[in-house]
Amino acid sequence: MELGIKNKNVLIVGASKGIGRGITCAFAEEKAKIVAVARTESLMSEVKNECLKLGCPSFDYVIEDIMNCDTKKFAENLIEKYGDFDIVVHNVGGSLISRNPLGGADEWNYALKFNAVASIDMNSVLIPPMINKKWGRVIQISSISAKMLRGNPLYASAKAFLDAYVTTVGRALAPDGVVLSSVQPGAVAFPGSYWDNYTRTDPARCEDFLRHHQAVNRFGTPKEIADVVLFMASEQASFMPAAIVPVDGANM
Ligand SMILES: NC(=O)c1ccc[n+]([C@@H]2O[C@H](COP(=O)([O-])OP(=O)(O)OC[C@H]3O[C@@H](n4cnc5c(N)ncnc54)[C@H](OP(=O)(O)O)[C@@H]3O)[C@@H](O)[C@H]2O)c1
Repeated sequence: MELGIKNKNVLIVGASKGIGRGITCAFAEEKAKIVAVARTESLMSEVKNECLKLGCPSFDYVIEDIMNCDTKKFAENLIEKYGDFDIVVHNVGGSLISRNPLGGADEWNYALKFNAVASIDMNSVLIPPMINKKWGRVIQISSISAKMLRGNPLYASAKAFLDAYVTTVGRALAPDGVVLSSVQPGAVAFPGSYWDNYTRTDPARCEDFLRHHQAVNRFGTPKEIADVVLFMASEQASFMPAAIVPVDGANM
């Protein structure tokens, strides 16, 4: 299938490892022009080499901590340096935040900013040029936790808020050819990941988790998430604005 991604300007936020790295390499294989963001220079240099080897025609990375910068200004600076983006993937987020259900505003605001609001703030700058040219794709990496509402309450709630944003704002953007969507991974493992460590430190509990919560009875891979992200970034996703797409090994 020709995805129509070749030479598109793509921004990936959270690209140095795990799912984000898998997504970045998948865009490189499709010959997209990539700008990638994360905090770890050594990892980003590795990703750059990997992507150039895969035939990526143009790759640059920007080292930034999106939890400690003016995200709107950061997005403006990216556009000033690289021009408008056709495709944006927001991958930053995670459950390694406060797990305290009775935490105060500081803890909840952090969870919301990390998993949703930092990317929403960037979108306020990145999406208007897409509206002007009547074409754009924005993919938010959510979690199946947003649907199941289990596990860390702050994480599940923040991802549910993110998906509500995708549903409501996605509908508002649909008439202008901008497809805002969300991909909800189930548990995904890769070297150094939370689940990878868990497999080694407590294999019995890990097997129990998979048997009870992931019907495929195994972890997903970054590539299995990346393939769906590529589709949502493609021409073929034109009738899928505001879609929330689970890629979760039949979570239960
Ligand atoms: N893994 C899973 O099982 C799973 C399941 C469901 C949903 N998800 C979602 O999928 C996404 C990726 O998960 P993952 O497990 O691959 O996470 P990860 O291994 O922690 O990777 C997160 C990526 O974001 C970057 N990042 C983190 N904080 C950042 C910040 N403040 N500023 C800029 N970049 C930052 C990290 O790079 P640096 O550290 O170099 O900055 C890294 O490239 C998350 O949104 C997560 O909620 C994951």
